[in-house]
Amino acid sequence: MTEIVALAPRLARRVAAARRAVVLTGAGVSEESGLGTFRGPGGLWEEFRPEELATPEAFARRPRRVRDWYAARHRTMAAAAPNAAHRALARWPALFPSFLLVTQNIDQLHQRAGSPEVVELHGTLMAARCGSCGARRPMAELILAGGTIEDERPPRCSCGGLWRPDVVWFGEELPGEAIDRAQRAAASCDLFVSAGTSATVFPAAGLIALARQAGAVIIEVNPEATAFSDLADLRLPGAAGTHLPALTAAIEACRSPG
Ligand code: APR
Repeated sequence: MTEIVALAPRLARRVAAARRAVVLTGAGVSEESGLGTFRGPGGLWEEFRPEELATPEAFARRPRRVRDWYAARHRTMAAAAPNAAHRALARWPALFPSFLLVTQNIDQLHQRAGSPEVVELHGTLMAARCGSCGARRPMAELILAGGTIEDERPPRCSCGGLWRPDVVWFGEELPGEAIDRAQRAAASCDLFVSAGTSATVFPAAGLIALARQAGAVIIEVNPEATAFSDLADLRLPGAAGTHLPALTAAIEACRSPG
């Protein structure tokens, strides 16, 4: 049986009255699906240097190395399954007249858990994009047997451009429509949940302050404190796979009639 988060009466009233909710997720939400996080002990950036793998310059310098690294991550993500945190968030669209799920994750586990709409701020590794004309295709198509590109010559689009992962690299702009929607929603929401993110990468992390300025209830789900923990009305200091189902049950309880 799912635990229910005990919301303090005043907080429960505010959550029960909320009409516009936004949830921001990060790598910590997929950690229980076996996908590593980036920072902190055992994080990807402890083992790899982002400037050598996650920048347009790195891709220009060593396209094969970058593609192989992302091909390996794609394989791990494709083999992973959504966890209880993803499944719980898939129930939120039914709970609020206005709901927006915003993620920094590139694994599409929210969509695979049934979330009908997900704003992907950092793109997705389930697709590849032509660096020149912007055409897209499933990443899996580009990954030949064995998960690497067997050919030194990088695969090219019919326009001659290089195929690359459809993710946002450091130093690149976020997809305009995605960040605009996320910022507009955060600036007008009355409930904002930040789950599984260290809130260190901007502009994503800036959404929390926007929601605070809007007077929203702020809930943070993270075993570790973050730079924005002080803004939280409620901190759930533990795993998203435990706290998000419990929080969802609490919200369902305080929003159900009678
Ligand atoms: N449940 C909830 N939170 C967790 C869990 C868990 N099971 N496990 C770890 N965390 C927390 C960590 O304490 C940490 O604060 O998740 C957070 C993950 O932080 P990061 O590794 O920094 O990941 P994220 O915030 O998503 O990174 C943002 O940085 O590297 C870039 O583009 C990449 O989208 C990524 C962005």
